[in-house]
Amino acid sequence: MTSNIDYIDKIPNNVDLGRDRVLQRALEHWQPAYMGWWYDMGPNESHNYDVYLRTAISVDAEGWAQFDYVKMPQYRWGIFLVPPTAGREVNFGVNKGQPAWQDVPGEYRSMLRRIIVTQGDTEPASVEQQRMLGMCAPSMYDLRNIYQVNVEEGRHLWAMVYLLHRYFGRDGREEAEALLDRRSGDADNPRILGAFNEPTPDWLAFYMFTFFTDRDGKFQLSSLAESGFDPLARTCRFMLTEEAHHMFVGETGVGRIVERTAQVMAEHHLEDPGQVRALGVIDLQTIQRYLNFHYSVTLDLFGGDVSSNAASYYTTGLKGRYEETKIADDHQLTDATYKVGTVSNGRVIEEEIPALNALNERLRDDYIGEVQAGVDRWNKVIEKHGVAFRLTLPHKGFHREIGNYAGYHISPDGEVMTEAGWNARRDEWMPSAADYTFVQAMMQGRVVEPGKFANWIAPPRRGIHTKPIDFEYVRFN
Ligand SMILES: [Fe+2]
Ligand SMILES: [Fe+2]
Repeated sequence: MTSNIDYIDKIPNNVDLGRDRVLQRALEHWQPAYMGWWYDMGPNESHNYDVYLRTAISVDAEGWAQFDYVKMPQYRWGIFLVPPTAGREVNFGVNKGQPAWQDVPGEYRSMLRRIIVTQGDTEPASVEQQRMLGMCAPSMYDLRNIYQVNVEEGRHLWAMVYLLHRYFGRDGREEAEALLDRRSGDADNPRILGAFNEPTPDWLAFYMFTFFTDRDGKFQLSSLAESGFDPLARTCRFMLTEEAHHMFVGETGVGRIVERTAQVMAEHHLEDPGQVRALGVIDLQTIQRYLNFHYSVTLDLFGGDVSSNAASYYTTGLKGRYEETKIADDHQLTDATYKVGTVSNGRVIEEEIPALNALNERLRDDYIGEVQAGVDRWNKVIEKHGVAFRLTLPHKGFHREIGNYAGYHISPDGEVMTEAGWNARRDEWMPSAADYTFVQAMMQGRVVEPGKFANWIAPPRRGIHTKPIDFEYVRFN
């Protein structure tokens, strides 16, 4: 890697990498370690496949989504920031009105590094969680989609490592290496956040993950896209373009499973979950239990309902609210309050707390609104087939380990229960070992013929990038 041309070719970028010697040296050291990680922890047995993938080679309309066959280890993981906005300011907190920072403000350095590392850690984690799923893909179309998600999570890691290398010197380089050392679910060196250490053992879990957990990513990235630290804001803004596809994969994936089940139920006039399973599709009750699990562990990712960290991130101008600049208020929140739920005398109640301390909860509520809209769309599919069952989001306090509800045993309806009472009903509400066994048994082996789909999932409405559904999205060689 010596000339400008090589850099643009190997590492597409709009950060002038070809002229930045310090960044080049850092990346020359890190890139081989990244490739080692990809070979070890990237999608299993996939290294020689030609996959019809999109690659971002620039930030303009034509360049951000170039489609072609690529062997994944040769994917061109690039570094992109959306173009700067002239005159951009810090838009909230005590520094509101200052010019946006182009360098790390010294007094916020460790806080900012922690934000970037926490975001960065989630990216390789999800690749690790999903690495075996290619072996049991329900179609070539779905296989291509999971690989697309995986290479883009890899690029998101690059995006955060760029910030660490470019703005944080030696400790940034050490953090970048540590991002490749932690492993999802590892007892000694796990990923930082809980949901990223949970297994993703089957495709229903994968689609739930991309619907619920990638959407947490969207909301975190959106609030970091408001940051007064301009390079972080611009990096996250570009990542959001890719995140949209991940959530599309999740929403349509669950939607297609729901559709296939509802179809079979209507056709055979069946409602009993056992009889539905016997026809080779996933009963809606099991789908509900997966939903309960993925929703609740993802709610925890937003952090404590009452959080002084969130207040500091906001006050300093490092992390804003969702769509901060579209909100009509003072962007300081000195006197504002916000309602959070808590448990008191065996009941869930609401209390008003200073809005600054409730920023995690506010972001969680923004998230829940969007999630509910997606669940409503799944229910429309069920309704269309004349099936009476409806999917619902459990109460916010259900199965929580972080925040005001942690330590309580709350039913999906929001009733505070005893531990024994809750445990007695656990398998009604959460996927049981038997559920996982059933779902995995259904997903043995992968469907490799173009245009064919496993029995438990409906085909998509259309293919990828104007290609037909029976396009050869993956060549196995
Ligand atoms: Fe990501
Ligand atoms: Fe994602």
